[in-house]
Amino acid sequence: MEDDRHRAWRAAGEAAAAQVESGMRVGLGTGRAAGQGIRAIARRMREEGLRCTGVTTSRGSTALARELGIPLGRLSGPLDLAIDGADAVDPRGLIVKGGGGAMVRERVVASAAKRFLVLVDGPKMVSSLDEWGRLPVATVPFAAQRVAQELADLGPVRRPGQSDDRLALIDLYLPAGSDWSEAAGRARALPGVVDHGLFTGVPLGDVIVGHPDGSWTSGG
Ligand code: A5P
Repeated sequence: MEDDRHRAWRAAGEAAAAQVESGMRVGLGTGRAAGQGIRAIARRMREEGLRCTGVTTSRGSTALARELGIPLGRLSGPLDLAIDGADAVDPRGLIVKGGGGAMVRERVVASAAKRFLVLVDGPKMVSSLDEWGRLPVATVPFAAQRVAQELADLGPVRRPGQSDDRLALIDLYLPAGSDWSEAAGRARALPGVVDHGLFTGVPLGDVIVGHPDGSWTSGG
């Protein structure tokens, strides 16, 4: 049965899907909230004749979009819109992503889009990123051990397995009060690191906060 959080993610997904117009090329994110957005787009295609092309951010979102009959394209040009979930959003608009390990492609797709909508529910709107605490980093496997050593003060834990791009994933458990931008910059500067999960520069007005009663509010 669908619980409150899923109902909230569905509300956010439907609000994002309502922004899709026929003919658009749309980035399709990864995870539960993004999945609800993908489902809502597919519903509009079925029920309203909406036509659009999706560009996916992971094997998971590719499989879901295919199953639902959304035509898929390549990242060959700009996207009109991208939709994706997040793990935490702070009042300054710092966003942590990568809980599902897809943040490398997610940033590529988001950066190609004219507008990037972030789908969350209330519990993900945190007063400080300390409440979430975890910053994922993707690195080429060869460098993973060295990267973890260099970031030893940030509590690195390597995840089992690899990302869709065969990268190693390391979660940094930042001590309370850390400067997240500084920590992310430090990680990115290390040889072998491909990306991290901290996203900045997304207007809070483009954060869609879904609620269990089916309504949504803007994060701004
Ligand atoms: C995938 O790597 C992530 O960036 C997700 O977008 C993020 O973890 C949110 O996922 P959920 O919507 O499943 O919580």
